Amino acid sequence: MTALRPQCGRLLRTVIAVVMFAALSAIGCLPRPAAAASLLPCDIYARAGTPCVAAHSTTRALFAGYSGSLYQVTRASDKTSLDIGLLAQGGYANAAAQDNFCVNTTCLITRIYDQTSRRNDLTIEGAGGAGAADVGSPANALPVTAGGNQVYGLLISAGMGYRNNATSGVAVNGQPEGMYMVTSGTHVNSACCFDYGNAEVNNKDTGDGHMDAINFGTECWFAPCYGPGPWVQADLENGLFASNVGYSINPGYTGNPTPYVTVLLKNNGQNAFALRSGDATQGMLTTVYSGGEPSTSSGYAPMHQEGAIVLGTGGDNSNGSIGSFFEGVMTAGVPSDAADDAVQANIVAVGYGGPTGSTGTLTPGSEISLQATTAGYTGYYLRHQASGSSQTVVISPISTANTASDKDDATWIVRRGFANSNCISFESRNHPGEFIRHYNYQLYSQPHDGSAVFNSDATFCAVQGSSGSGSSFQSVNYPTKSIRHYNLQGYIASNGGSNPWDTTAAWTTDTTWTVVTPWSP
Ligand code: AHR
Ligand code: AHR
Repeated sequence: MTALRPQCGRLLRTVIAVVMFAALSAIGCLPRPAAAASLLPCDIYARAGTPCVAAHSTTRALFAGYSGSLYQVTRASDKTSLDIGLLAQGGYANAAAQDNFCVNTTCLITRIYDQTSRRNDLTIEGAGGAGAADVGSPANALPVTAGGNQVYGLLISAGMGYRNNATSGVAVNGQPEGMYMVTSGTHVNSACCFDYGNAEVNNKDTGDGHMDAINFGTECWFAPCYGPGPWVQADLENGLFASNVGYSINPGYTGNPTPYVTVLLKNNGQNAFALRSGDATQGMLTTVYSGGEPSTSSGYAPMHQEGAIVLGTGGDNSNGSIGSFFEGVMTAGVPSDAADDAVQANIVAVGYGGPTGSTGTLTPGSEISLQATTAGYTGYYLRHQASGSSQTVVISPISTANTASDKDDATWIVRRGFANSNCISFESRNHPGEFIRHYNYQLYSQPHDGSAVFNSDATFCAVQGSSGSGSSFQSVNYPTKSIRHYNLQGYIASNGGSNPWDTTAAWTTDTTWTVVTPWSP
């Protein structure tokens, strides 16, 4: 047989390859093309037969076809609200709309819309069996990037939570369900209970099995838990469960400390539940536990879910916990691991990025305490304190022996500066919406009054400490003046000047602070 010329051989091989590809594709032998990339988490779960019954996010659409609002913000200045939507259908949050609406004032997140047609929206949680009514989270508390866009996550401090006690389609009385959330391993604590999922309809602890929620934090309810955490656990009421015996039976699972974390809980409502987790920016999910319902009491098998949805607190509004939330869904039915894995791949494709609530640094979102450095005052911290009808900012001694409220008063949340986003503002930890500002050169903790002068009075630029170490905080509108303590009161002071607190004696150390991990994380 005559050999083909080289160029004809290449052509023949190409023709054969194209014909074979077409034939294999026609009979379904080839893997499905990467069309799944355009499916968002609730599209994936719908195709898998376990549709979302609730879908919440402040960062992005969770259905490719979603074009509605993600969340609502309410501003302090005139109490009006704005719905924050998407830049495009199936896309990312229009955070610029929030920034424009909230300029010269502060905004709280007052509603998180459910993206399913069931309208299982979350609003600020009311009083419960274990906690007074919650407050809303500051809308700009957690600036991050998603899909290359600047967006905001939801940052939960103690006393904050969201809920819906009259839902549609959420599992009750032993029905199967699944849920995931994208959260953070860098803003956690060991207080009860940073949860997302199924809870009681009356904000009270109504007994074992009346909750079925993902918990994420460093609270180890049943020892042992292994490693430092934070861990994904199942809040099934009256316990954070790592297994059927309560405690962790997985010594290899030491927690998910990364800035972005995916956590999942699946529960068939009868005799089995599973916990999965992974880094939300890379890689796969790991199954942390898969096995029987808790056998520690008869209340968990079958389950007795009530179908409310909670975010940020325990079922009875135990609200000492902190946490971060970027997105989460609840499904009807237990999703397959394959569906979860496809959802995780989609989450990774978002490319969540940016710092998340680290503590003890001057990064926006971080919680800090500011320790005085002057000899004799190194046990003193900058705090607010009631003085007549105002909250002045002072230094006072804080130690482990102080009350929780003293520690709260000495804890500040770093925000991007109102008047200059390269500088910072300090928000009170326990009085959300109040900021350190100077007035007649004295420091107060006050709610934003909507004025441009407040923006400037409450903005400070961090520089190297006047004494050569630590940090000093220069007033943005009086740059020669820095935050200083003098006679235990807080001021902005220049190094020499007309006010008593401008005295040069001890100015360098009085204006130098050590930024430390917060007394109240
Ligand atoms: O199960 C842990 C917690 O216990 C629940 O969230 C709360 O309702 C109860 O205090
Ligand atoms: O603290 C100095 C100035 O005093 C502030 O800028 C202003 O608010 C007040 O008049």
